[in-house]
Amino acid sequence: MSVRAVLGCMYGDEAKAKMVDFLAEEADLVVRFQGGSNAGHTIKSAGKKYVLHLVPSGILYPEKKCVISSGVVVDPFALLEEMQILQKDGISFKGRFFIDPRAVVILPLHKNLDSRSETSLGKNKIGTTGKGIGPGYADAISRVGIRMGDLIYPEFLQARLIALADFHGLEIDIAELTAKLLTAGEQLKEYFIQVPYLLATAQEKGESILFEGAQGTLLDVVFGTYPYVTSSHVIAGGIGAGAGYNPRGIDEIVGVFKSYYTRVGSGPFPTELTDETGNWIRERGNEYGATTGRPRRCGWFDAVSSRYSVILNGIDSIALTLLDVLSGLDNINICTSYKIDGVITQEFPSHISQFGVLEPQYLELPGWQEDISEIKDFSELPANARHYVETIEKLLGVRVKYISVGAERMQTILREY
Ligand code: IMP
Repeated sequence: MSVRAVLGCMYGDEAKAKMVDFLAEEADLVVRFQGGSNAGHTIKSAGKKYVLHLVPSGILYPEKKCVISSGVVVDPFALLEEMQILQKDGISFKGRFFIDPRAVVILPLHKNLDSRSETSLGKNKIGTTGKGIGPGYADAISRVGIRMGDLIYPEFLQARLIALADFHGLEIDIAELTAKLLTAGEQLKEYFIQVPYLLATAQEKGESILFEGAQGTLLDVVFGTYPYVTSSHVIAGGIGAGAGYNPRGIDEIVGVFKSYYTRVGSGPFPTELTDETGNWIRERGNEYGATTGRPRRCGWFDAVSSRYSVILNGIDSIALTLLDVLSGLDNINICTSYKIDGVITQEFPSHISQFGVLEPQYLELPGWQEDISEIKDFSELPANARHYVETIEKLLGVRVKYISVGAERMQTILREY
């Protein structure tokens, strides 16, 4: 039995879903603990591509239990749509899909508030996914949120919606929204379960649990590049509070790092490449947002922010993804420190203004030309690719246990120690 967390350690889009899908083979339960449909988890299985936003990535295995816990913000209409697409492909949810009734509901008004706040920020906009995530979490914290469990109590739901509209000074058709939400509640209530008990029972029975992170550490609401962050705790510390799970019960924390950096949306990105190499990486890595289709900003691997992620999350082992994308570069840089106001540091800044004057300091490594996408064993990688992996390992002080060289489940190198 093992309880494992798989967490994104950059600005999101680390190919976590591929790693969750790979590691889910050993898991009995796959649990989402934060975020909402801002996530876009792409999985290729048996030649077919799935993009999941709310449904945990374990769903493609017919026997896994998949759990949306209380820390997730759920757009019930988007969830039902996503479920229907999967059901059409023969994927069954009955008896193995669960939602905590405490999970907060994202409403159409949250999407409107999200886009209104982006418009009012003008050139300082966050570049959100527009899925209403920030306003949804804000309502939850302000204690005016609607929760999934409310969708089966008509009078309570209506009263809460009236109070919520009042809180925001909005005129909305309460009767229509109540009716729609009750219909969604009717369809989803069979999946409601008290997740803390589900997890505690699984733990007692010795079942394997996999916590699936969404977004990435550098987008954490507190420890990320605030205010250019998402609105949840993305880090390992978010698991206990998000899922209702005891913080002592995690055996392995796998940090997912891409072999280069990307960021979608606004905000600091010290190693960003705005030149031809950046474009080359974007095209080779197909770096376009899974949720919004936006082109991702691309750059070199940043060992300073990666090390920050390692200490924040207590990473036990690293999954290094998309290594195959880097084949074909003559040289590859890794950022090993920052120069800020003439001072060399290895600390990730706590204040946004420090990024404006930050100069990344690079270590240049030789690249490799070979296609590595079919390689199954670490020893078969070109020497320069091995050297690149080992350099990252040294700089972060954590072993690279998994290396992904392609989107398919089988394109994964497992390193034995
Ligand atoms: P929000 O989560 O939609 O509020 O967006 C806040 C910031 O997080 C924006 O910069 C988004 O681009 C980014 N973000 C949110 N979800 C993801 C994700 O799954 N991958 C990458 N970036 C994300």
